[in-house]
Amino acid sequence: MKIFLISYLTLVFILFFNKSSTENYQNMTLQDDTLKESIKRGNEIYTDFCVTCHLPSGKGMSGVFPPLASSDFLMEKQTKSIRGIKFGMSGEISVNGKKYNGFMASMGLSNQEIADVMNYITNSWGNKNDKIITVEEVSNIKK
Ligand code: HEC
Repeated sequence: MKIFLISYLTLVFILFFNKSSTENYQNMTLQDDTLKESIKRGNEIYTDFCVTCHLPSGKGMSGVFPPLASSDFLMEKQTKSIRGIKFGMSGEISVNGKKYNGFMASMGLSNQEIADVMNYITNSWGNKNDKIITVEEVSNIKK
């Protein structure tokens, strides 16, 4: 009787874990696909709107256009970065220990386009973002 109960519990355990692990897996691949698609669209937006200043390498131009590749500002201050892309950015900032005091105009991108370009730049040139930036997150950021 005891052995029967133990095997029954083991079976329930296995079934439960199998189920939840496939669910997790499905959620992960869903998230992966959403991120991949967003990055793909973001790449095009980058080419159309950002590349002239921040360059294809994301390295910018020292002292004039700050880098996005390995930028501590971009990776640590994502809300400020989004606000800058959305509404424009000026005044002194420090990027990787270097001061910039330039001006970036708002490019009139939609919240979706900003989320996409953020997903692209925070996952390019060695940058890695552990979370996906959503359109809701961008729309909640005000001037
Ligand atoms: C006309 C040149 C120009 C264009 C085009 C431009 N930027 Fe910028 N960007 C700048 C300058 C200049 C700054 C620094 C502003 C300051 O000094 O306050 C900046 C700052 C930034 C920053 C924060 C600092 C950093 O390097 O991490 C981010 C993020 C950024 N830009 C992303 C973008 C994205 C994304 C696009 C395209 C959608 C874009 N920029 C288009 C000139 C530009």
